[in-house]
Amino acid sequence: MSNIVFVTGATGNIGSLVVAGLLARDVKVRALVHSEEKAPALRDQGVEVFVGDFTDAAILDQAIAGADRVFSLTPPNPDQVAQANAITAAALRASNRPHIVRMSVIKSNTAAPTRISAQHGEIDKVLKESGLPVTFLKPHFFMQNTLMGAESVGDHGALYHSMGDGKIGIIDVRDIAAVAIEVLTTDGHEGKGYTLTGPESISFAQIGRQLAEALGKDVNVVAVPVDAARESMTGLGFPQWMADAFGEYFEAYSNNYGDFFTDDVQNITGTAARSYRDFASDFAGAFG
Ligand SMILES: NC(=O)c1ccc[n+]([C@@H]2O[C@H](COP(=O)([O-])OP(=O)(O)OC[C@H]3O[C@@H](n4cnc5c(N)ncnc54)[C@H](OP(=O)(O)O)[C@@H]3O)[C@@H](O)[C@H]2O)c1
Repeated sequence: MSNIVFVTGATGNIGSLVVAGLLARDVKVRALVHSEEKAPALRDQGVEVFVGDFTDAAILDQAIAGADRVFSLTPPNPDQVAQANAITAAALRASNRPHIVRMSVIKSNTAAPTRISAQHGEIDKVLKESGLPVTFLKPHFFMQNTLMGAESVGDHGALYHSMGDGKIGIIDVRDIAAVAIEVLTTDGHEGKGYTLTGPESISFAQIGRQLAEALGKDVNVVAVPVDAARESMTGLGFPQWMADAFGEYFEAYSNNYGDFFTDDVQNITGTAARSYRDFASDFAGAFG
């Protein structure tokens, strides 16, 4: 095996950690980068950079030719299905039949109650039917999403949310990346799907308490109705599609759609998933 991995979404939350972890394991990394301005930082680390869009077939063909594995990650947006399917189509055109490690989501399904999870369901279905060797990573809500509340926590000690009393198996992005790195560098993962969560399922009230302990100050957890959250997001400049998509997640999670956890992170990496308490302590500086 030539040990070449092509990473898409390489400059994002997960992709940047995956690239760093692969380089640390002496893997030859190729990366898709959306614009030339983000290329030099990766080239300096020894990454072979391909500049282009997810739907740029010629660039994808060059990047996938001779690659053993592909980390397929696309961000949520109205065109996500076409973007992810373009990566799959390029892998199907390649003579080397690369193993695809696809970043999906918990409970991905074409009939999911949230448009983003339904998109992932469509993308996963195309991959399953492609005949390519595939591994699905299905993570839960990211702990790092709560950094969106860092300013209000730092400024006036308030953590706003719209999930009611719903509990979620919230996970640290670093643990998702650790699983991806393991799956991209070891054998035996083809045809499998891993549901990635933190070590417990907790409500925002519990998240606020763990954050308060880590920061050593009071954190007032404030529930905001979903409609008000949608309005606030569009007011902040979020596209309507994205505000609606997040609103759907808030409603589903309020109804305990995400109230579960697994031990897949521990089983794959050999290390227990980080708790929200661990995350809050590591990121305390960001919450001011
Ligand atoms: N947030 C959650 O709680 C959660 C939970 C479970 C699953 N997920 C899934 O996780 C994935 C998002 O992962 P992430 O947070 O690592 O994403 P992210 O930080 O938003 O990164 C997205 C990456 O895609 C690149 N990109 C964007 N548009 C592109 C285009 N048209 N062509 C080529 N590259 C493009 C970005 O490059 P630039 O920076 O240059 O634009 C960036 O490298 C989504 O599939 C989401 O559904 C999220």
